[in-house]
Formats: sequence, C-alpha cells, structure tokens
Amino acid sequence: MAADSAKIIDGKAFAGRLTAAVAVQVAALVAGPDVRPGLAVVLVGDNPASAVYVRNKGRQTLAAGMASFEHKLPAHTSEAALLALIDQLNGDDAVDGILVQLPLPEQIDAQAVINAIDPAKDVDGFHVVNAGKLATGGDALVPCTPLGCVMLLKDCLGDLAGRKAVIVGRSNIVGKPLAQLLLAENCTVTLAHSRTRDLAGECRRADILVAAVGRPEMVRGDWIKPGAAVIDVGINRVDAPDKGPGATRLVGDVAFGEAAPVAGAITPVPGGVGPMTIACLLRNTVTAACRRRGLPVPDAAL
Ligand code: GUN
Repeated sequence: MAADSAKIIDGKAFAGRLTAAVAVQVAALVAGPDVRPGLAVVLVGDNPASAVYVRNKGRQTLAAGMASFEHKLPAHTSEAALLALIDQLNGDDAVDGILVQLPLPEQIDAQAVINAIDPAKDVDGFHVVNAGKLATGGDALVPCTPLGCVMLLKDCLGDLAGRKAVIVGRSNIVGKPLAQLLLAENCTVTLAHSRTRDLAGECRRADILVAAVGRPEMVRGDWIKPGAAVIDVGINRVDAPDKGPGATRLVGDVAFGEAAPVAGAITPVPGGVGPMTIACLLRNTVTAACRRRGLPVPDAAL
C-alpha cells in the first residue's frame, strides 16, 4: 500500500446521518398513537468527563425528538438508593431506556446495578441477559460502542465475512461484545489483551484491527498489515507541551501518524468511533421503545 493512502473513516459524518435517521423514526412514532420514546440517564458523583458525556447524551436525546430524564445523585449515594431509583425507572412507562453512567463510585457494585435494570430497557446492552442473547444470536440490545464500530466497518468494507479481525482489549463494554458482533459477521476473531504473546505479531495478521485498551498510541505503525482497516476506540487526554504550558490534546490507542500511511482505512481521534457511541445509544432507545410497544423495529440501514 502506498504511503498516505489510508481512507479516513468519518465517524462524525456517519453518526450525523444515523442520528438524523433516528429523528425521522421518532417523528413517525410520535405522529401515531404511541407515546414519545424516553431515555433516562443516571449519573452518580461528579466525574467531569462523565458529566460532559451525560450532558451530551441529554442534549442529543432531545434533539432527536425523544424525552430525556436526567438523574444526578451525589458521590456518597448508597447502592440501595441507586437500586431503588433503577426500580422506579423500570416501572415508569415513559422510560424506554435506562443508562447508568460508568464508572460508579467504589461503594457501589456496578454489575449488580446493571443487572437490576430491566433487560428490555438496557440500552447500554450490559445486562447479563443482553450479553447472553448477543453471544447466542438472540434479539439483544447491543452495546453502543462496538455496534458503532461494526457499522463503520460495514460501511467502509461491505461484507466482512472471512476477514481476520484482531481486537486489542477484552472489556465487557467493548472488546467482548465486539468479538461477538464480528463473529456474527463471519469474521475470524482474535481477542487479544495484556497477556497476549507477541501482540504486535497478532496485530500484523489482522485485516481488521480494533484498538480498545485505553493506552495512548500503544499500537504502532509497524503493527499494522498494509491495507488493513484500523478502528481506534481509545480516547486519551495527554499533555501537549508543544501547544503551550498545561495544554492537552486527545489521542487514540493507535499512533495515527505512523498508522495512516500503512492502513487502508482508519478512524481518527477525535471524530471516529466517539460520535458513533451516542448515535447508537439513540438508535438503541428507539429499538427498545418499538420492542416494548410490540412495533416492528425500523431498519438501521443508511
Ligand atoms: N462510560 C464509558 N462508556 C460508557 C458507556 O458506553 N455506557 C455507560 N453507561 N457508561 C460509560
């Protein structure tokens, strides 16, 4: 592959198209006898990054024509108090989707809270029932970030069948569900992690390489097979002394400057996978709303 040949995968533009399509679907639901889809987002504590995400989610939910319910609880909230709120939201008919922003304070068992959410309202797709359905080919609500990755890959490459996919990072939020999704697309999947032997060598065999480890620029240019599609899930804030004292910038898990000349296609950071996550959350909320009402789920094809 010649230098500088990578196609830049424009996740921001794709997310804009997906969000617009969701807004049309919401308008059609609201025009009929059905009540407006609603998304409840729960934030515990004052993690600044989480607060920004929650604000953006609320804003985009309203912009898509859905109802947004925000619940902000203090950092010292007990697990019992949070479970009581989840119970209330499970029983609230105006709420189709429930998202509890992670991470949670340490006194709260995040998995217990996630598994208290009604699986039909679990728009994060983190509940054990949705994870099980995803693994066994059922009608799961699928975690948003991996769903966004697969949408971008299919848009860029078309049919993914037979391609070798290497995912670096085995989290419940990204790596594991993405492995299931790519397997369902008939990829040959390797789920690599911190204990993988010869990680660079594994990556070099990938037609599709996904980095989701949260380590700034860990994946180097010489880890990439020429022409591979590279999806960078990382969003890391690092010091940028070249931009002035105290300045920072966002970088991914892939060293973009090294990777772009080698890859066939690559997502930038920012503007790649990040915007897809909220767009897929809106999409999942419409999916949950339709299923709860016994309506057909509108096509996501763009
Ligand atoms: N924190 C970081 N990513 C996510 C996500 O996708 N969902 C939730 N609930 N919290 C997160």
